This record gives sequence, structure tokens and C-alpha cells, in this order.
Amino acid sequence: MKFSNRILSMQYSPIRKLAPYGDAAKKKGIHVYPLNIGQPDIETPQQFMEGVANYKDAVLKYAQSQGLDETIESFIKYYKEWKIDFEKDELIITNGGSEAISLALTTICDVDDEIIIPEPFYTNYGGFAEAVGAKVVPFITKAEEGFHLPTKEVITSKITNKTRALMVSNPGNPTGVVYTEAEVRMLADICKEYDLFLIADEVYREFVYDGLKYTSALYMKDIEDRVILIDSISKRYSACGARIGLVASKNKELIAQIMKICQTRLCVPTIEQLAAANLINTPKEYFEKVLMEYEARRNILHEKLSKIPGVVCEKPTGAFYVVAKLPIKNGEDFAKWMLTDFSHNNKTVMFAPAEGFYATEGLGVDEIRLSYCLNTEALSDAMDVLALGLEKYMEIQGTAQI
Ligand SMILES: Cc1ncc(COP(=O)(O)O)c(C=O)c1O
Repeated sequence: MKFSNRILSMQYSPIRKLAPYGDAAKKKGIHVYPLNIGQPDIETPQQFMEGVANYKDAVLKYAQSQGLDETIESFIKYYKEWKIDFEKDELIITNGGSEAISLALTTICDVDDEIIIPEPFYTNYGGFAEAVGAKVVPFITKAEEGFHLPTKEVITSKITNKTRALMVSNPGNPTGVVYTEAEVRMLADICKEYDLFLIADEVYREFVYDGLKYTSALYMKDIEDRVILIDSISKRYSACGARIGLVASKNKELIAQIMKICQTRLCVPTIEQLAAANLINTPKEYFEKVLMEYEARRNILHEKLSKIPGVVCEKPTGAFYVVAKLPIKNGEDFAKWMLTDFSHNNKTVMFAPAEGFYATEGLGVDEIRLSYCLNTEALSDAMDVLALGLEKYMEIQGTAQI
């Protein structure tokens, strides 16, 4: 029996594919620090749990395909605080930001169409593009430039008559980059000049450090009908399990087209939507505390990584990830080895090999992505364990390969 070429060409997520090795290590009684996945350990605001109790109906019904009124209204209110005005028919509640990405690509891409993305990029963009038969066309951003965008010419050189959109995550996963206003302006100019959509994944909007200013793609008023906003409560409120996200656009026709698929998939879970609606009542101090916590984690991670001989990594300014280049041949082999062959004081670290965050063959092979979703004490210990593991691995492998 035959499987589709689309599914056969898809990779397993580099974020999750080493999990069986992690589980095996745990079965052996080893504590595994999970730096592979962007699953925050921050407590979900109480407002979410209180919102669950707002469901009073005796029947757990389908919600409207667009989303519950309460949830839509709460997002509209949230965006107002960011000086972004949405009307009700400009947004749709989705099963996480993940579904929002999938809906956006399905709606604008035919088979063989192309999406231009800076690499390294959130690995699942590749999977979602492949699932609709579209192709990711990457342009390289470099660690030594803090993963900022290259010149306009570099980006436009990738445009063909099959290009449908530029897609960016800002702040960036896995890079931690926060684009300047000039960079967002440049993306807007390109989209305008070449008649493209700008898929703006802003799920990490709140996670910007060092007092940097955040520029949403929607601040570029002259292209607002080209912007497809991807959003989610997963990271913002540490509510990954709720699976509540959103796709939004000032382009009402686009939203109307997306609705066709949304009606087919019926709706997003009702109780989670109600609970998410109540998150709008989360006090401001929640974000202030969370931001301080992540900034402290970022500092520890970067300081410790920088001290490991041979490791190259720039200090990230947003989201909660860092890409580090290691003095080894293959990040995936090392990641597996850390789970199968190494522990220190009965502890080891799981992280994501970075190769899967690149579309260009051969790039990122000696890099890894670490997420700093652990408290400072655990993170600090995890980094010590990683440093010892790397030292041992290099000893075993011999220095010839370095
Ligand atoms: C950049 C980016 N976009 C979208 C998502 C999807 O998040 P969710 O489906 O949980 O909303 C993630 C998750 O890690 C992400 O990092």
C-alpha cells in the first residue's frame, strides 16, 4: 500500500524525535533536563483555571467555527493594548498557533508554490509547508550577526513567480532574534513590491529582553491587508496544553476563505476557549514577573554556554531559545549519546539537534537548539551537566574531527 509522497518527504520533528531516548533514560532512573522543547515551567495564570468553571451548560456543545464570541472579544481587547485594531470578522480562533500556520499555508499555497523563510526557522514551518505541497525557500541568517536579516537584495533574489509569502517568527524560534523596526519595514516593502503575503508569527511577542522595542508586522499600516498574523496563548500564558491560538488578518477576504476549512474542522474545544477568554483578566504583574524570570534564565544560559571551550553562541534578545554551534561533527549524534551513554550524578540533558531547523542541506549539523524553559537553578545545573557531557564526548570521539 502506498503513502503519499508528501508524507514520505516529511521529517520527524527534531524537537520531539529524541523523546524515546529521553524516556529510556528516565526508565533507568536518570533525571533528564528537558531543554529540547518550548514547554515553559511557569504556572499558568489562575484566570485560566477559573475560566474553565465559566462553562455552565449541561451539554458540552460545539463552538462556532470562528470561535466563541467571548474568546474573540478577549483577543480583540488584548490587541488593543498593543495598538492593533481588529474587527470581529478579521480573526479566527484555532487549535494553537500550529493550526493557524497550517490554515494560512493551505489558503494561499497551491502545490509547488514557494514560501520564503529566514533559516534557521521554526522546524514545523517545513512540515506544514510540505503537508500542503508547498516548498520552503530559505535565506540564511547568521549567528555572528545575531540572526538579523540580510539585505533586501539577498531576500528578493529568492523570489520567483511561485513565491506566495515571506514567513517569519518574530521574536524568533530558534534564533531568539527580535527584528528592528527597519527590518520589519524592509519585509513590508518587499511584500508590497512583489505582491506577497507576510505571514507574521508573533507567538513570542511578550518575550523581548534588554528593553528592546517590539515591532509587530501589523504596525506597517500600508501592508496590513497582506499580513497574516499567527498567534497563540501557549507561550504567552504558559498554556501550551490548552491548544488555543488564532489566525488574523485585516484582509477580510482571506479570513472568509480560511473559514471554509474551519467549518470543515468544525471548531476548537469549547471549554478551553472559555478559559482562554478569561486570561484577559491576568494582572499586568504576571508578565513583568515572567519577563524578569526569562531574562535571568537567558543570562545564565548564555553565560554558561559562552564559557564552554569551542562553543559559539550569540546572546539572544527574545523568545526562549538559543542556537549554539558546538565543536563536534554532529549535533544529533551528540544529543542521542547524552541520553543513551552519559549521565553526571544521575542527570543528563535533552536538547534539539539544529539541523532540522534548516532547509539547506548540510547547515546546522554541528549546532543544537536549547530552550530555557527551566527555573534558574535547574537550568544552571543542566548547563554544567551539558558542559561535562560535551567534554567527555569530545574525549571519546578524539580531537581529530574538530
Ligand atoms: C514560532 C512558533 N510558532 C508557533 C508555535 C506553535 O505553538 P502552539 O501550536 O502551541 O500555539 C510554536 C511552538 O513552539 C512556535 O515556536
